[in-house]
Amino acid sequence: MKLFDVYPRFPVEITKGQGNYVWDKEEQRYLDFYGGHAVISIGHSHPHYLNRIKSQLDKIGFYSNSVEMPIQEELAEKLGRASGYEEYFLFLVNSGAEAIENAIKMASFGNDRTRVIAFENAFHGRTSSAVQLTDNPNIVAPLNKGIEVLRLPLNDTDALQKNMNDQVAAVIVEGIQGIGGMDEPSGPFLKEIQSLCQKFGASFILDEIQSGYGRTGDFFAHQLHEGVRPDLITIAKGMGNGFPVGGLLIAPHFKATYGLLGTTFGGNPLACAASLAVLEVYEQENILENVKKTGKDLIEKLRPIKSVKNIRGRGLMIALDFDFPIRDLRQSLMADHFIFTGSAKNPNTVRLLPPLTISQEDTDKFITAFTKAIENIQ
Ligand SMILES: Cc1ncc(COP(=O)(O)O)c(C=O)c1O
Repeated sequence: MKLFDVYPRFPVEITKGQGNYVWDKEEQRYLDFYGGHAVISIGHSHPHYLNRIKSQLDKIGFYSNSVEMPIQEELAEKLGRASGYEEYFLFLVNSGAEAIENAIKMASFGNDRTRVIAFENAFHGRTSSAVQLTDNPNIVAPLNKGIEVLRLPLNDTDALQKNMNDQVAAVIVEGIQGIGGMDEPSGPFLKEIQSLCQKFGASFILDEIQSGYGRTGDFFAHQLHEGVRPDLITIAKGMGNGFPVGGLLIAPHFKATYGLLGTTFGGNPLACAASLAVLEVYEQENILENVKKTGKDLIEKLRPIKSVKNIRGRGLMIALDFDFPIRDLRQSLMADHFIFTGSAKNPNTVRLLPPLTISQEDTDKFITAFTKAIENIQ
């Protein structure tokens, strides 16, 4: 059997990871400024993370949600405290798209409607509802077209006001657009969504799958704006530091009934152990402070680089625009300087999403290599 060939891949085989670095099979070391699609939060192979997962595995790897799961309760409690959403409920799933599917279902269960407002350049995943909310018609199959999606420009309050009514089930927005290139909903725009959702009985869904879990230096990107309190918040990526896990934070006004949502693997003991380890390391190592400090420093050092036309993002979620396609630049960073970076929807945009444990030394190393790589390709 051969693999279904859907991924363009770098010709590198990664065999080991530690901290902010990964190694290929020839023992070449790479600085990771991409974190495998923004997934690595506490660094590769963190010892506490490994021990937590290994010792859980020694006890039991899996049982289903048909029995009591105190480790899920421990995770919910810890996440509530870390995020400032203690009064919300947690529903555990296995991926980002699955969190989105369940968010949309909760909204629609709550108000019996099928129309959703999403924004231009959004990415919310590839499963049936999530892919419709994603702004990329090429990956929507005919069968997926079950909800009515109204796509509006981000931060266009007039368009939002004109289109909000009692037919809308939900408005969904990313804390900061990831693949779209780090455009950000403004505080007043988020508050307008919130108040229009309240007025018309729609659900306000914040997709924090990429921008959450400390990536911006706040636990959630939307928490920069005081008073923004969504009905549903989706999480994944950094939550498990590579262990497949996602979740949905659900406001207290939603009522659970048996069988309303469900999953076989969601919330399994290993996923919970991995997620608890991540939150424990956040506490022990002051990860959010590190993101604020290194993110600010990185942006300040990127700003004077002449070829960088525009910088967007916050913390360790940064997009850089050039006036040329960045393919050769990323290639040079990889082949000549052994640094991983990311791309975005716009071919002229580089995305930086390093582990949240990145150090001053690593950011300095990145700046030196980045400057040289730009000179190289020009
Ligand atoms: C903002 C956002 N939402 C949803 C998803 C989908 O997550 P997953 O790939 O885990 O299904 C992604 C993945 O990149 C994302 O960035």
